[in-house]
Amino acid sequence: MGKDLEKVLITNDQIQDRLAVLAEEIADEYEGKDVLLVGVLKGAIMVMADLMRHLRFSAPVDWMAVSSYGSGTKSSGVVRILKDLDTDITGKHVLIVEDIVDSGLTLSWIRSNLESRNPASVEICTLLRKPEAAKVEIDCTWVGFDIPNEFVVGYGLDYAEAYRGLKDIGTLARHVYS
Ligand code: PRP
Repeated sequence: MGKDLEKVLITNDQIQDRLAVLAEEIADEYEGKDVLLVGVLKGAIMVMADLMRHLRFSAPVDWMAVSSYGSGTKSSGVVRILKDLDTDITGKHVLIVEDIVDSGLTLSWIRSNLESRNPASVEICTLLRKPEAAKVEIDCTWVGFDIPNEFVVGYGLDYAEAYRGLKDIGTLARHVYS
């Protein structure tokens, strides 16, 4: 499946190095506090798994699933909860863990939805962010990498549910989707 990549943008080693740095900052912020890590399915599975392993303390994890994309490459802006949290977040510090902020529509919606449940705080950690694709301003406390406005796959990110298992992150060759 690596041959379907046009180029590798970020290697797994680079991801791990960056997550180790972010995990230190996150631990400095939350160690000793009642924090819940909230992953957004499915893309965030890899970043959540690795971030947790880099954290020097143990934090509970919960998951949400929302729909925002179809099987293509464009944001629809339509957000719908497919799976809600199992946890009552009242009074808790919530850290949303995401793979990518593209238009920002998904996270903006999730953040206000979670904020309406009276948590102590809601912050965002995203591995990737595309500044040129932003349609809404979104304040991410921790960002792994700012990337160009190109369609990327790997490390949890898919194209029509494929490529999530790639260890690196790269751009998809045009022949795959044209
Ligand atoms: C991706 C990603 C974010 C969202 C970002 O999820 O994980 O949740 O899109 O896009 P936006 O900033 O333009 O709203 P996707 O809907 O592709 O689902 P997946 O995580 O299951 O692949």
